[in-house]
Amino acid sequence: MCGIAGYVGSRDAAPLIVDCLKRLEYRGYDSCGIAVVDSHGMFVRKSVGSLDAFREAIEAASPAGSVGIGHTRWATHGKVDQRNAHPHLSCDGSIAIVHNGVINNADRLRVQLTREGHTFASDTDSEVIAHLLEQGVKDGASFERAFLALPEQLLGTYAVLAMSRDSEVVLAMRKGSPLVVGIGDGEYFPASDIPSFLPNTSRVVYLGENEGFVLSRNGMERLDLEGDRVVHRADLPASQFVNLSPESISKGGFEHFMIKEILDQASGLERLIQGAPDLIGDVVPVLRDARDIIFVGAGTSYHACLFGEYLFASVVRRHVDAIVSSDFEHHAELLDSHSVVVALSQSGETLDTLEAVRMAQDRGARTIAVTNGELSSMARLAQHVIPLFAGPELAVAATKSYTAQLAILALFGEGLANQRPSAVGRPLWQAHDALFNLTSEAARHHTREVARELLGAPAVFLTGRGRHYVTALEAALKLKEVAGLRAEALHGGEMKHGTLALIEDGTPAIHFFDEQESPRTEVAASELKSRGARIISVGPRPLASSDQHIRVDDAGIATPIVQVIPMQILAYELAKLKSMDPDRPRNLAKSVTVP
Ligand code: M6R
Repeated sequence: MCGIAGYVGSRDAAPLIVDCLKRLEYRGYDSCGIAVVDSHGMFVRKSVGSLDAFREAIEAASPAGSVGIGHTRWATHGKVDQRNAHPHLSCDGSIAIVHNGVINNADRLRVQLTREGHTFASDTDSEVIAHLLEQGVKDGASFERAFLALPEQLLGTYAVLAMSRDSEVVLAMRKGSPLVVGIGDGEYFPASDIPSFLPNTSRVVYLGENEGFVLSRNGMERLDLEGDRVVHRADLPASQFVNLSPESISKGGFEHFMIKEILDQASGLERLIQGAPDLIGDVVPVLRDARDIIFVGAGTSYHACLFGEYLFASVVRRHVDAIVSSDFEHHAELLDSHSVVVALSQSGETLDTLEAVRMAQDRGARTIAVTNGELSSMARLAQHVIPLFAGPELAVAATKSYTAQLAILALFGEGLANQRPSAVGRPLWQAHDALFNLTSEAARHHTREVARELLGAPAVFLTGRGRHYVTALEAALKLKEVAGLRAEALHGGEMKHGTLALIEDGTPAIHFFDEQESPRTEVAASELKSRGARIISVGPRPLASSDQHIRVDDAGIATPIVQVIPMQILAYELAKLKSMDPDRPRNLAKSVTVP
């Protein structure tokens, strides 16, 4: 959460940094700010709200200077206001920092620094970093030396960029939070993520943990200590070129990233069907030899884990556990070198899932990351990496990454069940073909009509059994986060065990089913209908009690891939009808890199 970006070069830093932040907005968007240093001093500007409005203010001010840092915030400490927006400054305003992460000992440091005479201007944990640097300099250290002392002083996670009015350089360091540097021609773009600088350069360096780097017009160097003296080293981590086009991170003519990404699923699935089986071949023996297998993930990725649990039970005939990342520590004791942990994560940066991978490795377990972040922290940590072939996903809501995760798990399942590749290839191709129909203009029009009926509903219930329960969970999450609708997913067999008490006249209830589940769904839907519920069915044919129906044909093992598509569209259309921004749901950020 929070995006940080900087620039060092010979162009005007301010507009470049604002553009870089704009491409990081998926990491947080409640407030933003920049600091630019030039030969006259430090220009700092912050604002609550959108980067588009901020850009206008920056253009009007047109600060000179070709060295700067910026931040787009997702609040963790302190409410959303201008005081708490980054950059944060030292008391004398000579030092500016931006930070992503959480400083666990900030309260103690704040007391200590206040005692030393520092005055705080915000309620954030991050501000202590500016004052620690200032205190270090006051105590006689150079700015760089004070920066290198941060790992001894800070507990928690951080990606930090720091600047001093007295030197036209940016210092960079990370621990537990992502930070990369884009390397252009005589210019440097430190940032939380690659899309930030992609239109400028595709050459990137990943920073190791707790190493300090200095970026200046003369180059990028690693800071090292010889005794108490700071020396500059030229031995940088190896750079690599990323294979992402600037178009892949633009809306490409669509109104929102979310709809672009929903419609992108057919081509992503095609790439996956063609590219993934070879890679999966390598990890199938690892899974086969494991005594126990655990799937771990958060949010939508956790729902994919649950799908994996049903799939392994029914297709592979093996018990696996699906565990939500933030609960992993309660299960970690059970792991040893006979265990395999499969971490699912779109970003590869979700802190709790990363922690789960670390815990698993500490206990000797093998780890497999299934991630869209092929170069992410998780991908670099895990022993095996299976990419999602989905391309960048920038809307906060996970859509194409979810269906790709399900497809990868289906391939795992088929591999372990020793079935012929065609046994899974066929349903995946079937799902691929169905995606075209489900995303056609006619299908979207029909879904829009269903969305219109949901307008004004205070809540909606979604039910399904077995793997359809997973679809209910995922559809409910989409409706909650994107369209702000209270959506409760229930296991189809659980309605009579309490929830029926909530059904009133007109309560919308969405049922997911396939041919096999159709008779039991028919009964459950009719029980709800007789208590006043309005029935929306999602399956191969309408139920006798359906008020509205969305047709989704069975696609065997791949049915959950196709069934979720109209629900993604429903959430998107409902958000639009409610004049909400589907790409930027309230209070959320895409990448949860804090606890
Ligand atoms: O990047 P990850 O898959 O690890 O992210 C996990 C969740 O934060 C994510 O799925 C979140 O729930 C999405 N906003 C759901 O649409």
